[in-house]
Amino acid sequence: MYSILIVEDHDLLREQLGRFYEQEGYRVTLAASGEKAIEKLSKEVFAIVVSDVKMPGMDGFQLTRHIRENYPETDVILVTAFGNVKEAVQAMKLGASDYITKPVEPEAIRFVSEKLIEKRRLLEEVRELRQIVKEEYVKEEYVLENIVGKSPKVLKVFELIKALAETDSGVLVTGETGTGKELVARAIHNLSRRKGRQFVAINCGAFPDTLLESELFGYEKGAFTGAINSRAGKIELADNGTLFLDEVESITLPMQIKLLRVLQEREVERLGGNRKVKINMRVIAATNVDLSLSLARGTLREDFYYRINIIPVHIPPLRERLEDLPLLVEHILRHHSFAREKKIQNVSPKVFDQMLAYHWPGNVRELENILERAIVKCPGGTIDEVDLPAPPRSAPDMPFRSNGEVGVSLKQWVLKSEKDYLRGLLIKHKGRIGATAKEAKVDDKTLYRKMRRHGLDKESFKPSA
Ligand SMILES: Nc1ncnc2c1ncn2[C@@H]1O[C@H](COP(=O)(O)OP(=O)(O)OP(=O)(O)O)[C@@H](O)[C@H]1O
Ligand SMILES: [Mg+2]
Repeated sequence: MYSILIVEDHDLLREQLGRFYEQEGYRVTLAASGEKAIEKLSKEVFAIVVSDVKMPGMDGFQLTRHIRENYPETDVILVTAFGNVKEAVQAMKLGASDYITKPVEPEAIRFVSEKLIEKRRLLEEVRELRQIVKEEYVKEEYVLENIVGKSPKVLKVFELIKALAETDSGVLVTGETGTGKELVARAIHNLSRRKGRQFVAINCGAFPDTLLESELFGYEKGAFTGAINSRAGKIELADNGTLFLDEVESITLPMQIKLLRVLQEREVERLGGNRKVKINMRVIAATNVDLSLSLARGTLREDFYYRINIIPVHIPPLRERLEDLPLLVEHILRHHSFAREKKIQNVSPKVFDQMLAYHWPGNVRELENILERAIVKCPGGTIDEVDLPAPPRSAPDMPFRSNGEVGVSLKQWVLKSEKDYLRGLLIKHKGRIGATAKEAKVDDKTLYRKMRRHGLDKESFKPSA
C-alpha cells in the first residue's frame, strides 16, 4: 500500500481528494497547509504528495522545493488553476512530477497517480535486483557465516576459522570488546562437523563462583538448599557440540582446577551426584584481556591456560582495519528492519569521514549502537548525522599503529602518526586553532605550518562543515 499526502487548504476539496485516493487503495494523510505538510513529511515516508499551489502561508511551489531537497524519493503532483500554463510550467521546473488542473477530474488524478506508481514499482524492482546482485557479490568474497570484512586482517581470520572448523582442537579467541569474538566462535562451530549440535555459551564473568559451578556442572536434587530438581549443566548440554567459555579470565583458580579435570578426563559429574557422564565436546574460550598478564599475576593457572589456548585466534580492533567500515555499515543497515523499512542504505561522505577519524573503543558493537541511534533519527535515504562521542582526553595518546605496512619508512610512519594525532585534536576542538595548539603544546604558528603540510584545513573541522 502506498502512502499519499494531500495538502489543500480548502476543507471540502481536501476531504474529497482524500476519499478518492482511499477508494483507489492508498493510505491517505491530510494536511491543511504547507507547514502542516512539512511536519507530516518529517514523520512518515510518502510515495506521493498532492498539493494545491495557492495556499495561505507556504504555497505549493515552496513545498515542492522543500520536498525535492529533502525527500528525493517522493513524487509531487501540484494542483494548479485551470488554464494557467505558466503555473504548470513553473511546477515542472521546480521538480513536480506532474500537475492536474482545477476543477479536479477523477480520471485525470487516477491517470497521473497510476503513472507515478508504475514508475515507482519499476524503480523498486531495479533496486531489488541490484541488491540481490550486490549481496551475492559480498557473500562470496567478504562474508563468512555472519561475519563481514575485507581487510587483510579479517580475511586472515576467515582462513583461520575455516581451517579450525576442520579440526577439533581447543581455541582461544582474543580481541577487544565488541570485535566479534562470539561471532567467530559460532562460525567455527557452524562450519565444523559439530554443527547441528548445540553451541552452548556461558559468560563466566556473569556468575559468582558457586553459581558458575552449578551452571557448568549441573546438580542432583538436594545437592544444596534450593536444588529442588536435578538439572543438567552446560557441559552436559554441550555433549557432541561446542562449549563457549566467554570471559574465561574471570574463572577462579579452584574452578580452573575443576574444569581442567573435565577437559582431561572428558567426563563430568553433577554436584551432589555420584555418576560420571562421558562428554565429547569442543571448547572455545574467549577473552578481552591479555592472559599472559593473568599468568604473571597468578590468577590463571599455567596448565589451564595451555589447555584452552591450544590455537589462538586474534581479532584486531576495528580502528586497525578501517577498510572494513563500508561493508560493516552496509551489513548493519541491511539487517536492521527499521533501516530497511525506511530505505536507509548508506551514510553520507561526511559521516563516513567522521567514522574514519574515530577510534572505536567499543568496536563493531559500538558501530551497531551508533547506527541504531542514527537510524531512528534519519527520515530516510542517507544517514547524514551520527552522534560520535568526543574523543576522550587521552585520544591523542592512543597507541599508534604501524599497520604492519611493508615498505613504510620510519619517517613516513611518524608523519602519518602526526597527521592522525592532529586530526584527532582538531576534531575534538572543532577546528579551533588556539585550543588545539594548547593541547598539543605547540604555538599557533607551528600548528598552522604542520596543518598545511598535512593538508588539514581547520574549516573542515568546524561543526557546520
Ligand atoms: N565482522 C563482523 N561482521 C558483522 N558483524 C559483526 C562483526 N564483528 C562483530 N559484529 C557484531 O558486533 C556485535 C558484537 O559482536 P560479539 O558479541 O561477537 O563481540 P565480542 O567480541 O564477543 O564482544 P564482548 O567482548 O563485548 O563480549 C554483534 O552484534 C556482532 O554480530
Ligand atoms: Mg562476547
